[in-house]
Amino acid sequence: MKNYIKYNEWQIIEEGFDPHLNKISESIFSLGNGRMGQRANFEEQYTGETLQGNYVAGVYYPDKTRVGWWKNGYPEYFAKVLNATNWIGINIVVNDEVLDLNTCKVLDFSRVLDMQLGTLTRRFSVELKNGNVLDVETIRFCSLVDDEAGAIKYTITPHNFDGKISIESSLDGDVKNQDSNYDEKFWTEISAKQQDDFALLTMETKKTAFWVSSGIYTAIHQDGIALNVKPKFSTKEKYVAQQFTVDVKKDQATTIYKYAVNLSSENHDKTELENAAVEVLKTVVAKGFDQMLKEQAAAWTTKWQNGDVIIEGDVAAQQAIRFNIFQLHQTYTGEDARLNIGPKGFTGEKYGGSTYWDTEAYCLPFYLATAPQQVSENLLIYRYNHLEKAIENAEKLGFKDGAALYPMVTINGEECHNEWEITFEEIHRNGAIAFAIFNYIRYTGEQKYLAEYGLEVLIGIARFWAQRINWSIEKEKYVMLGITGPNEYENNVNNNWYTSTIATWCLKYTIEAIDLVKADNPQELNQILAKTKFDTVKEITHWQDIITKMFYPEDEKLGIFLQQDGYLDKEQVLVKDLPAVDRPLNQKWSWDRILRSCFIKQADVLQGIYFFEEDYDIETIRRNYDFYEPRTVHESSLSPCVHAIIAAKLGDLDRAYEFYLRTSRLDLDDYNNDTEDGLHITSMAGTWLSVVEGFGGMRIKNNQLHLHPVLPKKWKSYAFKIGFRQAIITVKVDEQKVSLKNESEKALTLNIFGEDHTLQANGVLELNSQIIAH
Ligand code: BGC
Repeated sequence: MKNYIKYNEWQIIEEGFDPHLNKISESIFSLGNGRMGQRANFEEQYTGETLQGNYVAGVYYPDKTRVGWWKNGYPEYFAKVLNATNWIGINIVVNDEVLDLNTCKVLDFSRVLDMQLGTLTRRFSVELKNGNVLDVETIRFCSLVDDEAGAIKYTITPHNFDGKISIESSLDGDVKNQDSNYDEKFWTEISAKQQDDFALLTMETKKTAFWVSSGIYTAIHQDGIALNVKPKFSTKEKYVAQQFTVDVKKDQATTIYKYAVNLSSENHDKTELENAAVEVLKTVVAKGFDQMLKEQAAAWTTKWQNGDVIIEGDVAAQQAIRFNIFQLHQTYTGEDARLNIGPKGFTGEKYGGSTYWDTEAYCLPFYLATAPQQVSENLLIYRYNHLEKAIENAEKLGFKDGAALYPMVTINGEECHNEWEITFEEIHRNGAIAFAIFNYIRYTGEQKYLAEYGLEVLIGIARFWAQRINWSIEKEKYVMLGITGPNEYENNVNNNWYTSTIATWCLKYTIEAIDLVKADNPQELNQILAKTKFDTVKEITHWQDIITKMFYPEDEKLGIFLQQDGYLDKEQVLVKDLPAVDRPLNQKWSWDRILRSCFIKQADVLQGIYFFEEDYDIETIRRNYDFYEPRTVHESSLSPCVHAIIAAKLGDLDRAYEFYLRTSRLDLDDYNNDTEDGLHITSMAGTWLSVVEGFGGMRIKNNQLHLHPVLPKKWKSYAFKIGFRQAIITVKVDEQKVSLKNESEKALTLNIFGEDHTLQANGVLELNSQIIAH
């Protein structure tokens, strides 16, 4: 764990330059706008430790799989979120010496991510080997308004010299992925040229043939006035640049304005791509930096007005929740059903794909409550569009008759994961995809989604489960063998309680969904049944048999569900008794030792209790929580948030608060020692859930919004805003009262602390606070 980020409600601040922290900061200070994003790399040359990263949404490369021993069923490739053309480069040479923070003396340094403006600012003073001292201030952003564009304002002020500064503002397509399996570069050049005042570079990905056209325009100002200098165009393979040499004087500010665009063939015709890039570049250059920044600030203001969470009395907690919300908005804006929320967003390469079960299990509830309904629908349609591929994926593994297995990680619907214990065994992901359909309908009340898209997906998933189980003569029950649950620190176990539970739930829900569509839309049901070649009597009878005869491991003495058949055979040790030097286990222990231990990576039984909370009484929840949490190391970013929600439900607010801090500051404080690889974007939605479902007690039951707000000791108050069925509700909780405000024209009857209340259109409601669990 680290603690170098300064607390501030609206800003993320780093002061002082520590090269050892640079890759962590590059992740934390990342920028993005849903279409493109980048790590907080320096504009000028840096020869120290860095992970260079510029990413364009939807552009990927199918890198040839690399495994120790090939197993039938492995996918041929592992998709890579691609490091694309680096558009930020501004190399500076001062009186013949290259400005490089790795080689000069850094006198002063700060980095600020401003979450109100959506900007990254870096200020530093350095002394070069030639004795020249200079100050630099650089501000940059990825525009939310012109979402194919970014802009940089880079100001240099000499402290103790007059002389010459050479500036090279570049587009560098000669980039590589650090995680490239065969050290191969993934881009080839289509064209590189200067056109009028613009430098243009179009690159193509190997194999996938995506094109990305980038363009830059660079202008130099001194004393606030544009210099009438034309850049010298320079080019080499996969690289174009605009060069300037200017005379500078002591204390005189020289400002470089750089505008850049990145357009992808995912959104434009290839034949028109370069022209389109020129047009977007012209638009942003005409606006100018200040106007772009003004629009950027306004766009962020709107985002915050719609979805801020305000915490009073705890700056660390306030900063953290905003950071999480900010990074989510930077990653995914929800207009495009082809895109999804990668676990690292635009902040790193790791995880090789854009979509895990994280989206359905963790992110969807955030978007349901804070974004227009279309955003959540797009997330579901993404999976609907991949149904055929999920059926093919299942066929490759020997399943048949329309059974669908969604990939563990994917970009275009094809499986990209290639470790047998995950690819073939961590199949609970199918359950989360079905649960998301249920969750969407539970939240929105829009049952028509089932007939339009949902039911087909459910049938494919239910068929998979029905084929994945087998009858155990010994147990006289159906069992599910060879499973990895959400806890990836156990593989190839039998009867993982969570997977078996969600599998039978899928069967039940699919039967229910068939009945619902039959009642609402008998004709459409017939079409779906025909399309899926569904044998109603045979399939449903089989499913019902599984539902009644499924085996779930439990321990009666302890009164708990068992994570898997053999869990209690393991030596039972608690995390509190683990020496600190052994943590994180995944970096300190051999994999063999981890697998044989009882330590749990993330919520597993508790994930099931979280999803199906209404099925269990509070004592059952408590017993399972009390048993499993002390064995959980929370080494997945997805872990603390679920525990925060359950702890809050059980009335253990201190633990809930601890988990809240852990989920919300996971990256800011580098809890798991892996922030340098990129941020944990999907778990950031979990952070929001830990406030709203955890402390706020939000649930949807019987078509009604339920709240049970409680206040952690350290907070004076907190407030959040949610949309529910056309009503927009602000909830504020302090020691004395819970205040609700309806900011819409739609009256809403909701349940607070177990009682119904009606909140009139634009109305307010105040209730006394309570401290009891629900
Ligand atoms: C977790 C998975 C998760 C993946 C991507 C892994 O470490 O165990 O549950 O889907 O990360 O976030």
